[in-house]
Formats: sequence, structure tokens, C-alpha cells
Amino acid sequence: MKLDIVSIFPEYFAPLEISLLGKARRAGLLDVAVHDLRQWAHDRHRTVDDTPYGGGPGMVMKPEPWGAALDAVAPGPELPRLVVPTPSGRPFTQATAAELAGEPWLLFACGRYEGIDSRVVADAATRMRVDEVSLGDFVLAGGEVAVLVMVEAIGRLLPGVLGNAESVADDSFAPGSMESLLEGPVYTKPPVWRDRAVPDVLLSGHHGAIARWRRDEALRRTARHRPELLARLDRDGLDARDRAV
Ligand code: ADE
Repeated sequence: MKLDIVSIFPEYFAPLEISLLGKARRAGLLDVAVHDLRQWAHDRHRTVDDTPYGGGPGMVMKPEPWGAALDAVAPGPELPRLVVPTPSGRPFTQATAAELAGEPWLLFACGRYEGIDSRVVADAATRMRVDEVSLGDFVLAGGEVAVLVMVEAIGRLLPGVLGNAESVADDSFAPGSMESLLEGPVYTKPPVWRDRAVPDVLLSGHHGAIARWRRDEALRRTARHRPELLARLDRDGLDARDRAV
């Protein structure tokens, strides 16, 4: 997968050199290029922002540098899918990550300040698919951290990136029978630590009982932390034993 990222802070993306994604890049599974937006700002101060029309606090990113940047990074005829992180976007979920992981080329545009002049997305949308996405109901100082989050969520789904393919299947929110349930607690050796024993069932070797226990724990954790997810599970998604938990 090819990833282009445009930002006024290219240094933000140094973490993409390390760990899982760094390894994926070195293995040729991910081709990442980070571009400094200011290279497309041509005045003496390389200005990328200006005051908002209509008044109000803060600054808005100017359309000219963004237009030039998107034209240069994606000149066509092949075009990427453009992803713009913004608190006013649609929610970015595991399903969004999975959908974007199926694309050959993604271009991320990191806004700062009060956002990017709205004509930039309108113009880009005439030639490429554009997704304005939000990580949640909170406001970051800019899109950079949001892009790091999305790139990690998408990158780990690419074939060959995770060593153990099963770990994706077991994730909270992964599609399947445990979809929309939070993952329950996990344990490793030693069997007793600070007088706390690992639940016996996990040492029993009884796969059916272990699967049942995991589902019960997932249901309990979901009820405690995300009751609205349980409410969303349609009645057919719960068996008699689930309802007893
Ligand atoms: N930029 C600023 N806040 C954001 C958020 N919550 N999600 C995505 N991008 C953002």
C-alpha cells in the first residue's frame, strides 16, 4: 500500500520508522512518503494560514498551498483516496480501517488551526474519493496524531504485517461472532502472581469452556464500559447463555 501524508509538521511521522509499521516499510509492504505543505507556499514567510471569513477566533489553512500540494502528490491519472482527519468528520471505526486497508493508495491531509478552507475538499472531491473522518468526540490540535492513529490501525490489517493473523480476528470490534464486543482480560505465565491466580478454565485445556468463558468476560466488560454496544447487538446476536451473564 502506498501512503502519502501532507503536513506542516513532517517530524510528527518519525514513529512510522519503528516497530510494526517500520518493519512493514522495510519489508516493502508499506510505501510511506511525508510531504511538507510549506514547499507549496510561495510567499517570503511560506504562509499557510489566514483569518477566517465571517470572523471568529483562530486561523484557517489557505486553499492555494493545499491545492498545489494535492495536485503535485496526486497528479493523475491514477488517484488515491483522500483522507482528511477532522473532528467534524464521520467516525473512524474498525470497519473504516478495514475498508481503507483494501485501498492501494491513501493520501492523508493534516489540517491545523480551525481547519482547511472548505473549497479544498470540494475541489478534490470532483476527481477523487474523499473521506473526512473523526477519531472521536474530542478536539486535537491538528490532524497529525489522528493520521498516526489511522495509519497504525490500517497498517496492522495489511496482509503480512502482523506475525499472527489470528490476533486480528480476536480484536475488540473485529468482524465475526464477537463483533461489537470488547475483548476480555488476558493472562500469561506465571499461573500465580502476587497471590492472584489465572482463572482455572484457561489452564483446563477445554477449548469449548475457554471460548464460552471468553465470551462471558467480553459481555461483562462490554456491559460495564460500553453498554450502548450491547444494546446495539440484535437479539439474534445473543444466545440464552449470553443473556444470563
Ligand atoms: N483533528 C482535530 N481533532 C480531531 C479528531 N477528533 N479526529 C480527527 N482529526 C482531528
